[in-house]
Amino acid sequence: MRRWVLAIAILAAAACFFLGAQAQEVRQGHQTERISGSAGDVLEDDPVGRLKVYVYELPTKYNKKMVAKDSRCLSHMFAAEIFMHRFLLSSAIRTLNPEEADWFYTPVYTTCDLTPWGHPLPFKSPRIMRSAIQFISSHWPYWNRTDGADHFFVVPHDFGACFHYQEEKAIERGILPLLRRATLVQTFGQKDHVCLKEGSITIPPYAPPQKMKTHLVPPETPRSIFVYFRGLFYDTANDPEGGYYARGARASVWENFKNNPLFDISTDHPPTYYEDMQRSIFCLCPLGWAPWSPRLVEAVVFGCIPVIIADDIVLPFADAIPWDEIGVFVAEDDVPKLDTILTSIPMDVILRKQRLLANPSMKQAMLFPQPAQPGDAFHQILNGLGRKLPHPKSVYLDPGQKVLNWTQGPVGDLKPWAKIASPSTLPKAAVPRRSDGPMADRREANGKHGTTVLLKTKLSEKWRSRASRRRMRATQRREMGGGGFLVPAPPHMSEKCACEK
Ligand SMILES: *[C@@H]1O[C@H](CO)[C@@H](O)[C@H](O)[C@H]1NC(C)=O
Ligand SMILES: *[C@@H]1O[C@H](CO)[C@@H](O)[C@H](O)[C@H]1NC(C)=O
Repeated sequence: MRRWVLAIAILAAAACFFLGAQAQEVRQGHQTERISGSAGDVLEDDPVGRLKVYVYELPTKYNKKMVAKDSRCLSHMFAAEIFMHRFLLSSAIRTLNPEEADWFYTPVYTTCDLTPWGHPLPFKSPRIMRSAIQFISSHWPYWNRTDGADHFFVVPHDFGACFHYQEEKAIERGILPLLRRATLVQTFGQKDHVCLKEGSITIPPYAPPQKMKTHLVPPETPRSIFVYFRGLFYDTANDPEGGYYARGARASVWENFKNNPLFDISTDHPPTYYEDMQRSIFCLCPLGWAPWSPRLVEAVVFGCIPVIIADDIVLPFADAIPWDEIGVFVAEDDVPKLDTILTSIPMDVILRKQRLLANPSMKQAMLFPQPAQPGDAFHQILNGLGRKLPHPKSVYLDPGQKVLNWTQGPVGDLKPWAKIASPSTLPKAAVPRRSDGPMADRREANGKHGTTVLLKTKLSEKWRSRASRRRMRATQRREMGGGGFLVPAPPHMSEKCACEK
């Protein structure tokens, strides 16, 4: 057994150097490959002239004020909701005349309510969203005309418009009833899931383009790491018994390959994380709490072949990006065979995937750059909306006709959205006493997994004094500035969503 592993290691090491050299030649020759009808064609489509979008003007409490209060919303992995708004405001497809609009967009930021650790809490999202829809439906006639069928919303949270970070809870909630006719632009993508509405547009999570650029290594750098992964294998805080987190797939990666020399895997987040991906042939992209993580974007941008371990995942812009051609898909049950699967991929197949990944339009489609650039994720969203036109006649309702039920859903969601101050700005005594505030929400959210006590204790400790809160925020900011989401994840809250890195 030992000898076998050693032999593989030597072979693979040789292969790596060879591949590295080959890949280097490829890159130096700027060789990329296109697949007709997909990357390069569809990805380079120009949406201008194909659709017109009307941007509703909402009171700033639904958007700008939230960012003003917490600028970390601009850098977390759900920031696409903010940048899409900014993009649309100055986009050539924007129309100021709603009568000629094909699509209506409501700029409401539902993931900009952050914990002290910078991770979004979705508990108020349903009320914020309802409130925004109430606003547009009473100030303009267009919502009532279709009950939202020609409206789109950016809902990038873990399970999209189900607005919960735990899958069971998200499924129980379902998509917010008021959004059931609208088109949802969301990060969450899993086939046959109640939180993925047919016709939704799946987008990549936001990864900071500028920061990624500063970590580029010279293109001739060989890819000397065979398999790379950094992140959690277990989430003991939120999944103490194990098996629920990542459906056990990450635990299996660790158990099977922690001593395998081909696998460079660890929970440590080195400052060279981005550089390491550029030195790797395969980058593991296993599911976490949700099927997706920013690794997918990072892998594509850094030319590392994504090994997608998430059964039934729906990948971003799957109608435009040839994921089968650029990535490797491994069933969750096949994780124990990962070494054999990856070492038996023929070299020409690997090289072809690398050439496809080198295609700039592929990378561009994964990013939300500022300012926007042709073919980027903003444009892919518009292309997706354009492909859904014209709206079928059946979406237009008769005058006075209603399809949606405004009183459906959990009673908590029907409460008006009063803008509640966040824990960090409340006087300390107010926090634990709120019956509908974040503490209550967290208790509710964590009841099922036996983490209530743990969270309660930890949170009340953390919130005990303002000074310690401030210290924590300062630390968090430093960490965000230094390595973004590469820093070791905080011990609990953060880990329940796909926020885990
Ligand atoms: C749209 O319908 C709602 C009732 O569902 C009503 O309150 C609202 O005034 C209507 N909007 C317009 C602009 O007529
Ligand atoms: C709307 O939903 C509520 C709550 O589920 C239900 O009680 C009510 O009957 C529904 N109304 C209609 C018109 O279906």
